[in-house]
Amino acid sequence: MVCEDGRVLLAIESSCDETAAAVIRDDFTVLSSIVSSQADLHKRFGGVVPEIASRAHVPRILPVIDEALKKADVELADLSAIAVATEPGLVGSLLVGLTAAKSLALALDVPLIPVNHIEAHLFACRMAAGKDIFPAVGLVVSGGHSNLYFCKSALKFELIGSTIDDAAGEAFDKVANILKLPYPGGPSIESAARDGDPKAFAFPRTFLRDDRLEFSFSGLKTSVLYKVQGTPGSHKPVPAMTDQRRADVAASFQEAVVDVLVGKARQTLQKYAVQTLCVGGGVAANSRLRVRLEEMAEEIQVELIVAPMEFCTDNAGMAAIAWELLRAGRVAELDLDVTPGLVRKRK
Ligand code: KG4
Ligand code: ZN
Repeated sequence: MVCEDGRVLLAIESSCDETAAAVIRDDFTVLSSIVSSQADLHKRFGGVVPEIASRAHVPRILPVIDEALKKADVELADLSAIAVATEPGLVGSLLVGLTAAKSLALALDVPLIPVNHIEAHLFACRMAAGKDIFPAVGLVVSGGHSNLYFCKSALKFELIGSTIDDAAGEAFDKVANILKLPYPGGPSIESAARDGDPKAFAFPRTFLRDDRLEFSFSGLKTSVLYKVQGTPGSHKPVPAMTDQRRADVAASFQEAVVDVLVGKARQTLQKYAVQTLCVGGGVAANSRLRVRLEEMAEEIQVELIVAPMEFCTDNAGMAAIAWELLRAGRVAELDLDVTPGLVRKRK
């Protein structure tokens, strides 16, 4: 029992293919964070299959919640609120978490707090900093999103840029598929790239020299595809895929994505005259991206806060933002629904 040390809430996350629960104290301390990954189920498809993902959450959700409570040494009766990711994500997956959250909130008669999954990815940076970090520019790079935010406060995240096609993580996953590297693609590409030359292939850096705050990774993906399999209609023979060539393609692709992400973050910081950059989401686990962000932050003298590794890929601990929402009265009724799509502007 930890109640004497502060109030605790239970957070539930099931927006994509991770079933997760966390117990979080009102000072944002994560007492437990349990993540059950479905990666093995989706591996052979090279990406997340929505119907499989939503079904797989069902048998996992209660054991994951139980484990989070047990690890935090907390009982249901100790909980002051239930937080749940309700947007954005896969509709069926989100509904599993929401149903569990509603049931618990009703049974325990505690507030139900809807959490925006993307904002939670950024809040992981606030948690790591251990102090207020806003206003800040936020970059969220995950399997589903590549978004830039102007974060006025923990309660005001204004979406100011996103991808017009693929997300950065999605590009990693698709390129890994092309290179016959295992899913999830991000870690596979990162490790293959270690032995490769990032200058071996000049892949496109879409919009990098453009002042619009948007991303596009679909052309880059096609460019990799043509380099590996040959350009349609061309009779030029394609060199055989050796380990070295695979590593060179992976390194050159990774460098192109990193160039664009770092470049756009820099443009946004300058445009909004903000001194802090926070970066979250699965792709923020990429060590090359982390190094390049540090170099850029040093060069233009801004504070960089990247989410800690365990809170980069999907987890429920980052839903500590729910305490801010609860204090602001942002609680929901039991008719709460999920919002699978991304809401363009939130002020
Ligand atoms: O945030 P996340 O767990 O789920 C979504 O909300 O989408 O992000 C998953 C994405 C996947 O596309 C995965 O390939 C990518 O993050 N990822 C990485 C790395 N680790 C995970 N991408 C690049 N480098 C990594 N080390
Ligand atoms: Zn995510």
